[in-house]
Amino acid sequence: MCGIVGYVGDGNVYDILIKGLHRLEYRGYDSAGIALVTPEGKLNVYKAMGKVSNLEGFCKEKDLSGKAGIAHTRWATHGEPSDCNAHPHYSEDGNLAIVHNGTIENYKVLKDALAQHGCTFHSETDTEVLVQLIEYIKLKNNCELVDAVREALKQVVGAYAIAVIEKNNPDRIIAARKSSPLVIGIGDNEYFLASDATPFVEYTKECVYLKEEELAVIEKGEPLKILTLENQESKIDVTTLQMSISQLEKGGYPHFMLKEIFEQPNTLLDCIRGRVVAGGKHVVLNGVIDNIDKFLKAKRIVIVACGTSWHAALLGKYLIQGMCRIPVEVEYASEFRYSDPVLDEQDIVIAISQSGETADTLAAIQIARKMGAFVYGISNVVGSSIPRETDSGTYIHVGPEIGVASTKAFTGQVMVLTMLAISIAQVKETLSKEQIEELGKHILKIPKTVEKVLKLADKIERLSLIYTYARNFLYLGRGYSYPVALEGALKLKEISYIHAEGYPAAEMKHGPIALIDAEMPSVIIAPNDHLYEKIVSNVQQVKARGGSIIAIVTEGDTVIRNIADHVLEVPDMPECLTPIITSIPLQLLSYYIAINKGKDVDMPRNLAKSVTVE
Ligand code: G6P
Repeated sequence: MCGIVGYVGDGNVYDILIKGLHRLEYRGYDSAGIALVTPEGKLNVYKAMGKVSNLEGFCKEKDLSGKAGIAHTRWATHGEPSDCNAHPHYSEDGNLAIVHNGTIENYKVLKDALAQHGCTFHSETDTEVLVQLIEYIKLKNNCELVDAVREALKQVVGAYAIAVIEKNNPDRIIAARKSSPLVIGIGDNEYFLASDATPFVEYTKECVYLKEEELAVIEKGEPLKILTLENQESKIDVTTLQMSISQLEKGGYPHFMLKEIFEQPNTLLDCIRGRVVAGGKHVVLNGVIDNIDKFLKAKRIVIVACGTSWHAALLGKYLIQGMCRIPVEVEYASEFRYSDPVLDEQDIVIAISQSGETADTLAAIQIARKMGAFVYGISNVVGSSIPRETDSGTYIHVGPEIGVASTKAFTGQVMVLTMLAISIAQVKETLSKEQIEELGKHILKIPKTVEKVLKLADKIERLSLIYTYARNFLYLGRGYSYPVALEGALKLKEISYIHAEGYPAAEMKHGPIALIDAEMPSVIIAPNDHLYEKIVSNVQQVKARGGSIIAIVTEGDTVIRNIADHVLEVPDMPECLTPIITSIPLQLLSYYIAINKGKDVDMPRNLAKSVTVE
């Protein structure tokens, strides 16, 4: 939610910042802006509504020289998307510029106090209040910028990742974070700063993740300095990035989303590599094995997540309960945090998050840890906040996911949850050796199976043309296919803006059935599992009301094929592995429908990939 980039060094500041903003656009694209300190000590601030490309257009004839600069792509929280609410914001005397990701909760109180001291405001944002506060403290105490920032942050309640530059110090950026991420790239006589490492991975692999309530003095030609809000120097832990630049490009695909859908054979291979061993006989998930006592003693597991990750969590419930006989509850992190949860040392909380930065999920983790629960994280982004704040965990290793609608991260999360359940079950002996080997063998075949499913793309593209202008969709599934239905409906909503509801198929008769008519297609996920006979009746119920049906079935299906209007066949799989296979045609269907409607699938309106605000 909002992306920040900063640079100080001898490179082309403007080019580096704009390129960086493009990489962070997945975090929001309501407006974008840039502030440059020129070699002559001028502070130029340029902003534009909408995407970063609009900002580039706006900057064409401007003075783009700079020694240091900061830039921002916004997902609006305080104040509508507009030029004046766009970042960077500057202080009243025009000496300071700031970019901010997060929410200052007590901004109203601070704003009123500053107004009493004569400050005037030009935007509705909480961020402008912060920069005015910094300026006020700096002038009042006649102190260095770093001290003014530190003092200001002590007065702030809320979340922030900020970068501040100053007219009179063209080689320096002051940055700080609390609950919103910031990482500093260390180059050769140059520094980068960003919400994640993607803006600078092509320039340097050495970086430092700023920790909670730390403040950095980033100055060209000087060693990096990191301080606490109490002005104590912190130890600097340098990390080497594993990411490569090709992972951040479209690689010949028209959209990141399509690239990421087609990457799934490889990403799933990366996800299981070294974890399903001895030809499928064993599953080794180190985070689980190292903490096996906790899992064996657990009286219950609570899984918290948001969005697509929540759908993976729901599958986690079916997987863990089914294989390990441990009761599992699944909660939206945003509800869990305010639900006065009951937890103790015998509970395990699993937090699932692609970005590792979702504010609600982070808050849920903090509550769980305070209450003594063992907290396990499942994330994609190495070094992000959730893996750092959990007791143990597993990375899904599917590489950077840039399309805002999650695809490869979902299948990676489900794969990890499957391996997690098997890892516990093999020690708990709730699955036999034969059952484990059977599952292990199928898991090893999943990348090839997914490759086969992707061959449905042309058929799905043709099918999508028939349904592009439907105004509503129903997605139905039972058992393991119910969370898949929820995820399929979410994908369609997110990128095509068609209303879609995911429902447990048997619940349809308690309401949604009233909606069915010739205008409302149903997508029914009906692989050959133990609920197949049951879902056949649901398919018939839809047909009897004149609804058209797209069914995802197992190859060789003979029954539903004769009832449904269209069938998409996927290879046979053990029931618990079907979600990874059946979710892929649904990703493709939503992609092609959105493309037919001319929508921007990689950057759907109003959404952001990393939701670092409540
Ligand atoms: C946003 C994204 C979704 C994602 C959700 C949770 O809404 O658009 O794709 O599923 O956040 O994100 P997380 O990074 O925690 O998985």
